[in-house]
Amino acid sequence: MARVFVTRAVPGDALERLRSAHEVRVWDGALPPEPAVLREALAEVEGLLCLLTERVDAALLDSAPRLRAIANYAVGTDNIDLELTAARGIGVGVTPDVLTEATADLAFALLLAAARRLPQAAADARGGAWRTWEPARWLGAEVDGGALGIVGFGRIGRAVARRAHGFRMTVRSTADTDLDELLACSDYVSLHVPLTPRTRHLIDAAALKRMRPTAVLVNTSRGAVIDQRALIDALRSGEIAAAAIDVTDPEPPPPGDPIYETPNLLVVPHIGSATRAARARMTELAVENLLAGLEGRPMPHPAG
Ligand code: GLV
Ligand code: GLV
Repeated sequence: MARVFVTRAVPGDALERLRSAHEVRVWDGALPPEPAVLREALAEVEGLLCLLTERVDAALLDSAPRLRAIANYAVGTDNIDLELTAARGIGVGVTPDVLTEATADLAFALLLAAARRLPQAAADARGGAWRTWEPARWLGAEVDGGALGIVGFGRIGRAVARRAHGFRMTVRSTADTDLDELLACSDYVSLHVPLTPRTRHLIDAAALKRMRPTAVLVNTSRGAVIDQRALIDALRSGEIAAAAIDVTDPEPPPPGDPIYETPNLLVVPHIGSATRAARARMTELAVENLLAGLEGRPMPHPAG
């Protein structure tokens, strides 16, 4: 029996399987444990189930000398220093596949919402601005037949492409088209790359300049793939038409951040995988990873 720390209450009942095999402590705060609190909690622990809100870095690993298995409750691993965990022989698992369709659905929901200006239209309806049927108000862009550029053609990017075909869109991706060209010829651009040193600020001021003034940018990957300051400027100056983002840098943006006041920008709070089914399956995968890692077996869904 090993000691396991779980950094938040996660949905679904798979944690019971972990509890029947190991001594499990679940952090019950409404917010993640502060780094110092987490370091203290890990002093005697062999297994860790953590979220993308936790930074697994040298300071954390130094305070967890017995740690042998980490299950990240996410498909991304940018919160974990994988070189360090590998050097220390600590297994790291992730939750792929089970959140692919949920995240692709959200990307498409954001694309449609931004194209048809749903946030503005809904706010106006609630706010009493709907006085008659308007021939020339709340006009958006046609999605049907539009050109979609997918940046990053992995599992989620491909799932977005499948949806786009139903909308008779022309679909191109960075798998077949150079990024600069893709940006220049797309009505919609959707980001599906992991955050790495190479993709940090991939969409910077120069990239935004290449996009069409009518273009809509969708991000369900990681906030730092976009240079957020440059995005705010591009939306303010009308360099692109709209953006809809599920991820920001940092998360959440602090109160008063200009992102909340930027025109034509729809922000939702990192809900790509937030369906009941996906989150319950993520718990199952995380538990499978931990059970294997703690028994010294290879994790079924390893990182990297
Ligand atoms: C969510 O962003 C994930 O990486 O699973
Ligand atoms: C719109 O509601 C229409 O009937 O054209």
